[in-house]
Amino acid sequence: MRRFSLIVAVSENSGIGIEGDLPWRIRSELKYFSRTTKRTSDPGKRNAVIMGRKTYFGVPESKRPLPDRLNIVLSTTLQPKDLPEGVKLCPNLETAMKHLEGDNEIENIWVVGGSGVYAEAMDSERCHRLYITRIHKKFECDTFFPKIPESFREVAPDPDTPPGIQEENGIEYEYKVLEKETK
Ligand SMILES: NC(=O)c1ccc[n+]([C@@H]2O[C@H](COP(=O)([O-])OP(=O)(O)OC[C@H]3O[C@@H](n4cnc5c(N)ncnc54)[C@H](OP(=O)(O)O)[C@@H]3O)[C@@H](O)[C@H]2O)c1
Repeated sequence: MRRFSLIVAVSENSGIGIEGDLPWRIRSELKYFSRTTKRTSDPGKRNAVIMGRKTYFGVPESKRPLPDRLNIVLSTTLQPKDLPEGVKLCPNLETAMKHLEGDNEIENIWVVGGSGVYAEAMDSERCHRLYITRIHKKFECDTFFPKIPESFREVAPDPDTPPGIQEENGIEYEYKVLEKETK
């Protein structure tokens, strides 16, 4: 069974978005997202990023599809013609995972939001790790990160992760990794 990991930046009040956009501007955190979701051990492979319709269209037009990764958009209302060539449309997360099951060109699979997709992801037995950037500040938000199931435990971050509290534009934040306990 193929697994995936989830990546998210969350404010102190559990917010992740406002009006289709991120509530904050933290350039180094966006670079961390990009680096982490692109990283493969086999240079001949690439990763997949799976996201909801609103997250996809929330990415500035010039920056989507997210480069060097297979973009998969989850939607029941879009049609393939609404998305550029190379972007895959699936009705839900499990269909996307079934599509990737036999694809040996894809090394890692990342679920990148938004709210309902994160909830479906954390409920799935395929969910391996949660890469969470904890932003140590409250922001006005209209989209929130769901409650993390108790089966996830904090583990050491990947070796190239900047350790401890980071700071940009007066905003403090920290990179955390949680892993699902195996029974
Ligand atoms: N801070 C972060 O790390 C982060 C990450 C991602 C997004 N965001 C922010 O979050 C906001 C967008 O997230 P969102 O939650 O509003 O929308 P979203 O999850 O990106 O998109 C929702 C749409 O995705 C489709 N979908 C497919 N499977 C789904 C499922 N299991 N659950 C829910 N929807 C599913 C549906 O499309 P149809 O209606 O077409 O069927 C649904 O209307 C933006 O503000 C964005 O900037 C923040």
